[in-house]
Amino acid sequence: MVPMPSLHILILAAGKGTRMKSALPKVLHPLAGAPIIDYVLATAAALSPASRTIVVGHLAESMREALAAHGDLRFVVQEPQLGTAHAVAQAAPLLEGATGTLLLLYGDVPRLSVQTVRALLDEHERAGNAATVLTAVVPDPSGYGRIIRDPGGIARIVEHRDATPDERAVREINSGIYAFELEPLFTALSRIATDNDQGEYYLTDLVAIYRREGKRVGAVVAERPDEILGINGRGELAAMAKRIWRERAEALMASGVTLEDPDTVYVDAGVVVGRDTTIRPGVILEGRTTIGANCVIHPGVHIEDSTLEDNVVVFDYSVITGAQIAEHAEVGPFARLRPEAEVGREAKIGNFVELKKTRLGAGSKAMHLAYLGDATIGGNVNIGAGTITCNYDGVRKNPTTIEEGAFIGSDSQLVAPVKVGRGAYVAAGSSITRDVPAGALGIARGRQENHEGWVERRKRKQAEAGERKPEKT
Ligand code: UD1
Ligand code: CA
Repeated sequence: MVPMPSLHILILAAGKGTRMKSALPKVLHPLAGAPIIDYVLATAAALSPASRTIVVGHLAESMREALAAHGDLRFVVQEPQLGTAHAVAQAAPLLEGATGTLLLLYGDVPRLSVQTVRALLDEHERAGNAATVLTAVVPDPSGYGRIIRDPGGIARIVEHRDATPDERAVREINSGIYAFELEPLFTALSRIATDNDQGEYYLTDLVAIYRREGKRVGAVVAERPDEILGINGRGELAAMAKRIWRERAEALMASGVTLEDPDTVYVDAGVVVGRDTTIRPGVILEGRTTIGANCVIHPGVHIEDSTLEDNVVVFDYSVITGAQIAEHAEVGPFARLRPEAEVGREAKIGNFVELKKTRLGAGSKAMHLAYLGDATIGGNVNIGAGTITCNYDGVRKNPTTIEEGAFIGSDSQLVAPVKVGRGAYVAAGSSITRDVPAGALGIARGRQENHEGWVERRKRKQAEAGERKPEKT
């Protein structure tokens, strides 16, 4: 049996990213919901789940923290950044004695598909090359390294700024992505000089060096040149995000979801939406969000890390984070569900109602202007307009319990910890500080007095006072 040649993956991400004009390393900028480099790491993981990927960064500490979730990465610091060949050389100590293939990816080229990389690796293997370059033929090659071919294959790669007018006319560009045979790589890298316009160590010089040494250098032309586009500035970041969002919108529509205006719907990777759900314009679905079938998500709704069962309606401009909404419930418009909000089956949350760490039972309603925090609310409860759970005493958060079938009159405050028993009533405008037993009426407000004839008396007094005053001019 022929042993499988081992695959090592190196991701270059130490470039200064000057054009981003940012304190954040370029590859950590969010692209359609995830750091740019996450896309590259996903490709790496799909290609080689077993081996550990090496990332070359300049702010390796902030990267290590940001990418902690990816666990199995190794980080190398490149400081200062003296060019792409210098960046690769930083990984030498980690690859000491390693054999097989080194796949070089860029942390700022997020659209490269697994399929294209496989084609590169297959050709590298098949031809027995020392280096195989992924190239692309593009309408506007300016800025890129040009692939200079000769009858022997690829003669060299010349950077745009070092190229002659004839060379600049070449439309086949270097993607910067390569497969290398590991064995001769680091020795060859040490032969690269800095005799170019930027005074950097250019990895591209390796091609000419290998050719002089009689080693095989090959190329694979990417079928979709778009895949090798890098992100340099915020304009490119926005343009690429737009394309990614559009693709996700297309995928949702293909799976049976109606999007009234797909260009205005922003969906993170991994969001699941059920069939025959309608998503109206301007909706944002983020994080680990699952939406069931037959739901309607009205304009301007923002949902993050939440689960909506089937037949849920969310009305306009509601913000839902870390919440669970059971089937046939209705939420909004202008509702806010914060983490650990649970809305029961057929329950209704209306305008300007906020829930935090609160479970609202099946069929219960809070239709207007309420704050419900740290509360457990049973089924078929009516929460009147303006109800507030006073859950915070300045030191700790206290719980409120409202049992099945209770009725909370409008503009009531429930000073927690407090409990309203099963079927109990709270009179409108009450400040409830003690438990209300099941079936009781809790009333806690100033008594009303009516002063008969008061309005007439006041008018008379005002008239008398007016007669004494000097006339206004
Ligand atoms: C490089 C190629 C060019 C190719 C282009 C494709 C060289 C000399 N040129 O040019 O032929 O067409 O990519 O996008 O290789 N990086 C480091 N450390 C450094 C310098 C760069 O880690 O010292 C990383 C960057 O973070 C980036 C990648 O290497 O991910 C490419 O660097 P960049 O400066 O963008 O190279 P280009 O000049 O665009
Ligand atoms: Ca670049």
